[in-house]
Amino acid sequence: MIEVIKLSKKFKEIVAVNSISFKVDKGKVFGLLGENGAGKTTTLRILATMLKPTSGTAVINGYDLASEPEKIRGEIGILFGGEAGLYDRLTARENIAYFGLLNGMDKVEINERVDELSRILEMEDFIDRRAGKFSKGMKQKVAIARSIVHNPSIMLFDEPTSGLDVSATRIVHNFIKELKNQGKTIIFSSHSMDEVGKLCDEVGIIHKGNIVEQSTLEGLRKKYGEDDLEEIFMGLVGGKYE
Ligand SMILES: Nc1ncnc2c1ncn2[C@@H]1O[C@H](COP(=O)(O)OP(=O)(O)O)[C@@H](O)[C@H]1O
Ligand SMILES: [Mg+2]
Repeated sequence: MIEVIKLSKKFKEIVAVNSISFKVDKGKVFGLLGENGAGKTTTLRILATMLKPTSGTAVINGYDLASEPEKIRGEIGILFGGEAGLYDRLTARENIAYFGLLNGMDKVEINERVDELSRILEMEDFIDRRAGKFSKGMKQKVAIARSIVHNPSIMLFDEPTSGLDVSATRIVHNFIKELKNQGKTIIFSSHSMDEVGKLCDEVGIIHKGNIVEQSTLEGLRKKYGEDDLEEIFMGLVGGKYE
């Protein structure tokens, strides 16, 4: 369970996130939808304990962000979009194992887990090859495996498909669906209503640092009398419903 309570972040005079609150129940997929600069990455970096909020807090699986950040780190997995950020000179296995060590796992445990993930994600052909020359899809699989090596119950994805081709995007979408089937709690950000519509139970629309709407997809359609979610999104960020 994730509860975000009046969370704000200022960078000097810029208000990146303006007192946002929302709740994501266990096992739900929550889509944080917004245009560039809306505050998505800032919000997710705060929840991932990578950035301190200016005010407000969040409670994640019962742990408070402000007072127990190290407890929260063990509960969450993080996957960011764009470049996978792997170490080119390390093999896929070594890249994943390194994150396992950072998360306090022992070597035996890590090896078993890497073998399991390698099977599930179909990485067996390249798991012991260096990552430098991998295709985008291969790199994304390694990044995915790395993000869940410690079997977190909560996943945070920041625009996980941005810059990926069609097949790599599918790998990510299937992965999110699989995690949902396993009962994981997921927040992912996107600027594509289409993507959010495919994967989410609930959506929060963020605009200029404010959550301007939070609802199920069905709830949004009912409230705005419009089937096309993209239209609703454009209307909300374009001021049509003000
Ligand atoms: N480290 C930073 N220093 C100054 N301003 C920042 C920093 N990070 C983000 N911002 C600003 O905060 C706002 C929200 O950014 P961000 O959270 O990255 O949005 P999004 O991920 O939705 O595109 C933007 O105006 C951005 O320029
Ligand atoms: Mg961003």
